[in-house]
Amino acid sequence: MEKNIELKMIDKKQVPDTEPDRQYYYMEIAKEYIRQLSELKGEPLTFHVSTFGCQMNARDSEKLVGILEQIGYVEKDTEDADFVIYNTCTVRENANNKVYGRLGYLNGFQKKNPFMMIGLCGCMMQEPVVVEKIKQSYRFVNLIFGTHNIYKFAELITTAIESSFTGNSHKKGSSMTIDIWKDTDKIVEDLPIERKYTFKSGVNIMFGCNNFCSYCIVPYVRGRERSREAKDIVREIEKLAADGVVEVMLLGQNVNSYGKNLEPQISFAQLLQEVEKIEGIERIRFMTSHPKDLSDELIDVMKHSKKICKHLHLPLQSGSSRILKIMNRRYTKEQYLELVDKIREAVPDISLTTDIIVGFPGETEEDFEETMDVVRKVGYDSAFTFIYSKRTGTPAAAMEDQVPEDVIKQRFDRLLKEVQTIAARKAEVYTGTTQKVLVETVNEQDEHLVTGRLSNNSVVHLPGNADMIGKIVDVRLNECKGFYYIGEKVS
Ligand code: SAH
Ligand code: SF4
Ligand code: F3S
Repeated sequence: MEKNIELKMIDKKQVPDTEPDRQYYYMEIAKEYIRQLSELKGEPLTFHVSTFGCQMNARDSEKLVGILEQIGYVEKDTEDADFVIYNTCTVRENANNKVYGRLGYLNGFQKKNPFMMIGLCGCMMQEPVVVEKIKQSYRFVNLIFGTHNIYKFAELITTAIESSFTGNSHKKGSSMTIDIWKDTDKIVEDLPIERKYTFKSGVNIMFGCNNFCSYCIVPYVRGRERSREAKDIVREIEKLAADGVVEVMLLGQNVNSYGKNLEPQISFAQLLQEVEKIEGIERIRFMTSHPKDLSDELIDVMKHSKKICKHLHLPLQSGSSRILKIMNRRYTKEQYLELVDKIREAVPDISLTTDIIVGFPGETEEDFEETMDVVRKVGYDSAFTFIYSKRTGTPAAAMEDQVPEDVIKQRFDRLLKEVQTIAARKAEVYTGTTQKVLVETVNEQDEHLVTGRLSNNSVVHLPGNADMIGKIVDVRLNECKGFYYIGEKVS
């Protein structure tokens, strides 16, 4: 990208070395650069953040947006913006391919807009081969950082602006700012965050994962497990509540092991009880619960809670104890089923959802039938089904006996059909009842309708308007349409 935009480097005399002060210092500097660039362009600079992957990434993107807005960028819905960031996921191969495909398209915009910068972050950037490939083939990318140093975004963006628009910026290809850390034990609090929704929010309670399921790349790209201090979490949620949030989703790769590295130790169930006390918070969700660590204490807290939603996402991955062992999941089919019984006994109307992988190396027809058996026995309200994807560097990638594609495809289709049949049957049970619904959006297809969710996460459409967004209303569920309800507000 040829640029003829020239900024004067701002002196950085007293950079604080403590966080978050350091980042606030850089935000001021970046703000000044953005002011000057906007002046040169003759209009405010815009940004667009595209998020791939899980809730964790969605929350991280809100942190990026918080800082971008703080320094003077204005959000835009489309990717023809002055700063486009892809917050990437690498849990399955197809997530990666999507990013490469779209980078070429972004380059087209950049050629036409000398102010445009492109940034890449997230899990995919924690893989050295990916960064190498971008360095080789996508020289137009201006900024690359990873999952561990996202809190440094203000500082990184300042460096990227300086290397793109000051002094040596005319040296072609010299303007790629790269900063990737292998791991960190650092958690930085109190940086700006811009929520996507006014009334609900994700809240990180822990980062990283120590489980090393043999197929999974997450522990390698998100680092070791570390929990946030309970007081910081509670303080954040209190602030959210004061700002109009009624629903929080507590986020972690394995929330059930929350608090293990804290002094004094605190369990996830204890944390939930603290969150329950926060006035203004009406609904509490959490994601994800590893079956091996789901305690009786947690089940008891769920049973007595008035705010914890009647929904539990309990990833199965496989129903075969033999495969589960090779997956390093550390529970058996029987233990999983017992756990489900215990939960259902304590909270009878709970909705259960899951993740299942089809075609893990060595999966036989018998193994697959065990999975189908669990699906039928549990009767999930919904399930995410994935075709096994080989992730380089994970133990499973080196296993022999990778299952042929056509066999996987055939099993996948059978599983999907079973899951859908059961889910449709489960969905009907609340037809005719009146339930509490949190209204989330105006319906995209019909502006006279609003869309919301039951405590068990089912979707409901009902007549209404934008004033209802963020409110919890009583709704009679008149009709079930397979995966959603049509209802009406009752007063
Ligand atoms: N921490 C969560 C999962 C995070 S990844 C948990 O333990 O449940 C989300 C889902 O992606 C996983 O539950 C798994 O079903 C799926 N997944 C992870 N690695 C995968 C792979 N290599 N191939 C296919 N699916 C995978
Ligand atoms: Fe991956 Fe397993 Fe950790 Fe979940 S618990 S993130 S599946 S390693
Ligand atoms: Fe993907 Fe990273 Fe989440 S790999 S699933 S975005 S933790």
